[in-house]
Amino acid sequence: MNAQYIGLLGATSLLGECLLKQLVRDNWHITAFSRHPVPQIHPNIKWQQLGISGQANENIGMNNISTWLCVAPIWVLPEYFGLLSAYGAQRIVVLSSTSRFTKEASSNFSEREIALQLIKGEELVQAWAEAHGIDWIILRPTLIYGYGRDKNVAEIAKFIRRFGFFPVLGSANGLRQPVHVEDVASACCSAISALNLTNRSYDLTGGETLHYREMVKRVFAALNRRPRIFTIPLWLFQMATWGLRWLPRYQSWTAAMAERMNQDLRFDCSDAKQDLNFFPRSFSLAQEDLPRKTD
Ligand SMILES: NC(=O)c1ccc[n+]([C@@H]2O[C@H](COP(=O)([O-])OP(=O)(O)OC[C@H]3O[C@@H](n4cnc5c(N)ncnc54)[C@H](OP(=O)(O)O)[C@@H]3O)[C@@H](O)[C@H]2O)c1
Repeated sequence: MNAQYIGLLGATSLLGECLLKQLVRDNWHITAFSRHPVPQIHPNIKWQQLGISGQANENIGMNNISTWLCVAPIWVLPEYFGLLSAYGAQRIVVLSSTSRFTKEASSNFSEREIALQLIKGEELVQAWAEAHGIDWIILRPTLIYGYGRDKNVAEIAKFIRRFGFFPVLGSANGLRQPVHVEDVASACCSAISALNLTNRSYDLTGGETLHYREMVKRVFAALNRRPRIFTIPLWLFQMATWGLRWLPRYQSWTAAMAERMNQDLRFDCSDAKQDLNFFPRSFSLAQEDLPRKTD
């Protein structure tokens, strides 16, 4: 079988780490990019450090990589259009997020900015790819969890471990579809190989739709703790997030997050099921999906 070559931007992320395992298993030779030096430890993975102004630190000339995956934030990808063109990109799979829909009308300015960056990022990727005859696929996962390294479920688990309870707003009955990072990685692998699919976007959800409160209860269960979920009013959330913003760990916590606990964030992944053979698992937390006790 001929060797297959792929470029991976965002290779040090949670999803990138998971993808590296799956791509190696599928016999890909990966050129993995980071802005920081990463030691070369696997014969199929060649780490490349990104320099300033979107260049790789090594001479590109000889390298011909036609297939690309970008799991860095989509809004940074335009910085690397020149790099991808120099490598001879012909097909690109790019991660966006369903936050482009759910945060557009957020009460929090930074969240609205994220939605705008995602929307603009998608538009720029499509325009650039189509202008250069490059096939594109955009994947939009919902809330990603797994390996204890995510910024969603793992953060809930860390809070519970630290304080012994979890605060929610109102009944916290907004619907969620958490998707495991390995399922997102599998969808990425299907999308790079399904050459019949071009210039399309897919929403990727988890295999189960559950209320926010139930999601938190499952985290308690995975931690072997009795659920202690306290309902607190919005003004208290606002005060708490204002106070917590001085602690780096809680800087991204906003009162808008609490407001969303009662909003349904539900998407349809039937297109991905049909085209990408995407059959994600129900929401379940294995021990390796919990943060380490030292985190
Ligand atoms: N986490 C979620 O719940 C969620 C939900 C939906 C969609 N997504 C999307 O899924 C993808 C993976 O998410 P994630 O949470 O695992 O990772 P992430 O935290 O969004 O991305 C971090 C990665 O992006 C790279 N990166 C950041 N800024 C960069 C820049 N200016 N230039 C080059 N690389 C840059 C970092 O590389 P270095 O620091 O090594 O350079 C790191 O590998 C992202 O596209 C994200 O938007 C995430």
